[in-house]
Amino acid sequence: MDRTRRLRQSAVMRNMVRENHVRVDDLIYPMFVIEGENIVQPVESMPGICQYSLDRMAEELERIEKARISAILLFGIPQHKDEVGSGAYDEHGIVQEAIRRIKKDYPNLLVIADVCLCEYTSHGHCGLVRDGVILNDETLPLLAASAVSYAKAGADIVAPSDMMDKRVQVIREALDQAGFVYTPIMSYSAKFASGYYGPFRDAAHSAPGFGDRRTYQMDPANGREAMREVEEDIAEGADLIIAKPAMAYMDIIKDIRMNCNIPIVAYNVSGEYAMVKAASANGWIDEKKIVMENLVGMKRAGADMIITYHALEAAKWIREEENEGGR
Ligand code: PBG
Ligand code: ZN
Repeated sequence: MDRTRRLRQSAVMRNMVRENHVRVDDLIYPMFVIEGENIVQPVESMPGICQYSLDRMAEELERIEKARISAILLFGIPQHKDEVGSGAYDEHGIVQEAIRRIKKDYPNLLVIADVCLCEYTSHGHCGLVRDGVILNDETLPLLAASAVSYAKAGADIVAPSDMMDKRVQVIREALDQAGFVYTPIMSYSAKFASGYYGPFRDAAHSAPGFGDRRTYQMDPANGREAMREVEEDIAEGADLIIAKPAMAYMDIIKDIRMNCNIPIVAYNVSGEYAMVKAASANGWIDEKKIVMENLVGMKRAGADMIITYHALEAAKWIREEENEGGR
């Protein structure tokens, strides 16, 4: 009879046979930059997360450097919004300016720019709107212009999160034409219309002013369709694929892993973060245990990288365990 407990006897042995690991290099930390001065505004539904104006970013960037986090994902909050989201592709927009500063002071920090219109449009939708309809093809040139302007500012990777059809193709063409042949596209391919984005929309001031995102983001009930999205994006030129949210969609991550060889990024979203934070603040769960279990679950499902608001704390925990030589 097989006794699987033989390999669980000691910390050294468990450590040796451990199949999956969360490395600090796997973590991508989201950051919210806001127009204005002297702002460090905590996001109420996301304890520990703040919006930073450019003149106050340094304190967060120092924490990121100290934690040895290698990559950040930038979201911008402009002072003025309009129908066409011009802040997204303004050469002096908040994200463009943030990228320039960050790359100047922290040249080795990998900067990923989220590409979408919803933070910049007065109606809060991810694309242009006419007669209550979110337009697809009319939105594409604006997304392409945003991606190119982020690349020009120094972004290392662009990450379209809008879910318009064909945007990866249009962005790839625009980047190539502008000479950014080597700027990778990290595409939010399997992005579901999820209730888990609630806290993010507080953080990014990007809640839709009318209706919802269900005509462009995916139906949570659909797994096969997620694979179609992924295949499309790979064919259009995506270099990395994001699946989002993560925890209620682990099967999607696994499906992508089983069917393609492209690097996969799991997005551990704002609502997932908020739930863990709320429960641990109440003393109902052990935060470190739960966070590390969630993150390794994403790796086990097949993610290569994880975008997570827990990154700063997780990085600290990972280093501590390394120093202790595992448990
Ligand atoms: C914007 C965008 C969203 C998120 C990332 N990019 C919100 C949305 O689609 O409404 C969600 C991130 C999170 O919840 O942490 N397109
Ligand atoms: Zn959007």
